[in-house]
Amino acid sequence: ALISMRQLLDHAAEHGYGVPAFNVNNQEQIRAIMMAADKTNSPVIVQGSAGARAYAGAPFIRHMILAAVEEWPHIPVVMHQDHGTSPGVCQRSIQLGFSSVMMDGSLMTDGKTPSSYDYNVDVTRKTVELAHSCGVSVEGELGVLGSLETGEAGEEDGVGAEGKLTTDQMLTDPEEAADFVSKTHVDALAIACGTSHGAYKFTRPPTDDILAIDRIKAIHARIPNTHLVMHGSSSVPQEWLEIINQYGGEIPQTYGVPVEQIIEGIKFGVRKVNIDTDLRLASTGAIRRHLALNPANFDPRKYLAEATKAMTEICVARYESFGTAGQA
Ligand code: G3H
Ligand code: 13P
Ligand code: ZN
Repeated sequence: ALISMRQLLDHAAEHGYGVPAFNVNNQEQIRAIMMAADKTNSPVIVQGSAGARAYAGAPFIRHMILAAVEEWPHIPVVMHQDHGTSPGVCQRSIQLGFSSVMMDGSLMTDGKTPSSYDYNVDVTRKTVELAHSCGVSVEGELGVLGSLETGEAGEEDGVGAEGKLTTDQMLTDPEEAADFVSKTHVDALAIACGTSHGAYKFTRPPTDDILAIDRIKAIHARIPNTHLVMHGSSSVPQEWLEIINQYGGEIPQTYGVPVEQIIEGIKFGVRKVNIDTDLRLASTGAIRRHLALNPANFDPRKYLAEATKAMTEICVARYESFGTAGQA
């Protein structure tokens, strides 16, 4: 059944687990996530970005998610809109039937320029007023996402600050977070704690202090009733990078967020963990390998099935390590 983000994250907080929120653009991703959820008995958050809506069209994203709800009626599913750039964008998703929206007011509508605090409060509060009157949950964002190692926002198309960021910008302030939540009434808050979007988060193998876990603790202590969200949480599996490069890819050496550090964050209030890049890498690796090893194949179902299998394995692993397994 379709449920709101608030319902799911309240349950997650009560039972001390985190929920991976996977980005979806096509049927293979949705099936992989649902098969993994079914196998591990996990509740699901699937999210559509602006890029996803441009690629597949909002009606297709919506109907693919509804098809998943129909096929796996025993799995609770949150249909979430990722990184909305204005209250208007969020309003359209609410009208389409999304059960949760993100109003990312940390950046201006260009998705690049860091905004003022007052602007962020204003657009987020407007979105919450509208969404809550429809039973829809809202995620806000305070702080600018950026890698604490490189000072870069990351490479995702559409979202991400331009230029080098300061450490101050890349760490959400606990007092400001408390003020933001009291003014906007968001259900969940995306915080900046050292992660960035995309595959290029860290240039060296991450040390166990690469995320600002102390900052997560301090924010959680200040706003214990607001569910924290970690964006840019892909772990960039080295085995998939190797497979991609072995079969003709050219992806430079790069590192993501270690799963153990996400688990540490979950202990201190992180309830929603956004993952997109890991499924992209796994599906690309699986398809490259299949086509290289089966050069005569031209049936897309064969290589797409490989992609689905690779993505399912990653989803199962995340459900198990975040404690989502068994909670549906
Ligand atoms: O937040 C960024 C997500 O990874 C979505 O990326 O805009 O390329 O779909 P996208
Ligand atoms: P990754 O690029 O680390 O997968 O993060 C995705 C994300 O935060 C989507 O909002
Ligand atoms: Zn994000």
